[in-house]
Amino acid sequence: MSDTRQATISPTERAGSRKVFIKTYGCQMNVYDSQRMGDALATGGYVATEAMEDADLVLLNTCHIREKAAEKIYSELGRIRVMKAERAAMGKDTRVAVAGCVAQAEGREIIARAPIVDLVIGPQTYHRLPDALLRVDKGERVVETDYAVEDKFEHLPKAGKREISARGVTAFLTVQEGCDKFCTFCVVPYTRGAEVSRPLAQILDEARRLADAGVREATLLGQNVNAWHGEDAAGRPIGLGGLLYALAEIPGLDRLRYTTSHPRDMDDELIAAHRDLPELMPYLHLPVQSGSDTILKAMNRRHTGDDYLRLIERIRTARPDIALSGDFIVGFPGESDKDFEATMRLIEAVGYASAFSFKYSPRPGTPGAELPGHVDEAVKAERLARLQDLLRCQQQAFSESLVGKSLSVLVDKPGRRPGQIVGRSPYLQPVVMDENAGTVGDVVTVEIAGAVANSLIAVGASDARSALTGGPVAA
Ligand code: 5AD
Ligand code: SF4
Repeated sequence: MSDTRQATISPTERAGSRKVFIKTYGCQMNVYDSQRMGDALATGGYVATEAMEDADLVLLNTCHIREKAAEKIYSELGRIRVMKAERAAMGKDTRVAVAGCVAQAEGREIIARAPIVDLVIGPQTYHRLPDALLRVDKGERVVETDYAVEDKFEHLPKAGKREISARGVTAFLTVQEGCDKFCTFCVVPYTRGAEVSRPLAQILDEARRLADAGVREATLLGQNVNAWHGEDAAGRPIGLGGLLYALAEIPGLDRLRYTTSHPRDMDDELIAAHRDLPELMPYLHLPVQSGSDTILKAMNRRHTGDDYLRLIERIRTARPDIALSGDFIVGFPGESDKDFEATMRLIEAVGYASAFSFKYSPRPGTPGAELPGHVDEAVKAERLARLQDLLRCQQQAFSESLVGKSLSVLVDKPGRRPGQIVGRSPYLQPVVMDENAGTVGDVVTVEIAGAVANSLIAVGASDARSALTGGPVAA
């Protein structure tokens, strides 16, 4: 969740057009937002470049979830300052924009701390990006961090078929933004604002456009995606489950996923969708954060460890092969050894296929940062190491349980080695296959011969083991 990615906008270069380099930090929602900003910039004549030093506009789409994530931005801005000076010596201008959650949280302070920044733009106002850049062209330093009253998605230009196709056969689709849960460790309710659901018709329209452009798998995104709510064509209220039933009817869209969910919003309709819809992949990211009721209460999660375990049981009854993933925080203020052991017991009881785990990082302005009993960094590190060991074993055990089984795999890219292709299992693992198994966009059935690190190897994939390098449990 704290990786860095480059946004793909159409790389086609037109003479005279300006170049933009977009660097994306943080979650999948930021990846989606970067693509939409890329689409908006493309209509303003910008083309993408993968080389920052060639860019007339450098745009950082930032993450504020943990302290380290936010600090990375300032070190990056330091490097950009040097590059901007080098370009200036060659007579080239460079505009620098900071978007995302750091932009929203720190606003004008970014300009004060990093004078090279021309534009600070928060996630609620991305549709105003082209306008804001025109103001920058006129010499203004712009800070756009208001919560826009108009519907951002209505105003953002839609991606063209060519741009969508260039991004591959899997796509993100934001259906919900913001969060009203106010977990006491989390900045999201402050940076992304209140929960807003996009209307059903708008989502179906975007999903059809994706399918028409060759997308086979869509991942619905939301900070609290299972809080999505809307109305069906007859005006009846529906939840995320209802949305998934509607999306499953779109021809070509063979696979559906959604992330990230809160346990309190897993309703009967959504659980039934897991039972009924073959298009809905048997993988669920359902963060619990802690297994201790004391800590869950202090985190304002508003459920107990037992509630979570009972919920998992209901989900598994509906879809017995479902693979579970979660997020964990160790060292929340007041977490005792006993609380931590309760988290370890919960993990053992669930058996995760994958997981993300973090040391608690106090975020200014959140209630957690003000709590007494902050945990020593060394204790946090030790707990994190133990927890990740357990999760790594569970992940490996899950992968090995698939050896000898046949899985349906969506082929999504060439392999690292000649003669190989890579796809995604229903459980979101990369599967390395022989290139004759299918072409990009096919859903093929392959038998699994082995499991290495985070990947599966299909029968017939030559030399695949040596092509893979081990990777840690995501953290
Ligand atoms: N410290 C550590 N981890 C955090 N997360 C959110 N806020 C913090 C924080 N202050 C983690 C949670 C969340 C994931 C996206 O990031 O586990 O589910
Ligand atoms: Fe943050 Fe909690 Fe909302 Fe998730 S549910 S975004 S952890 S406040």
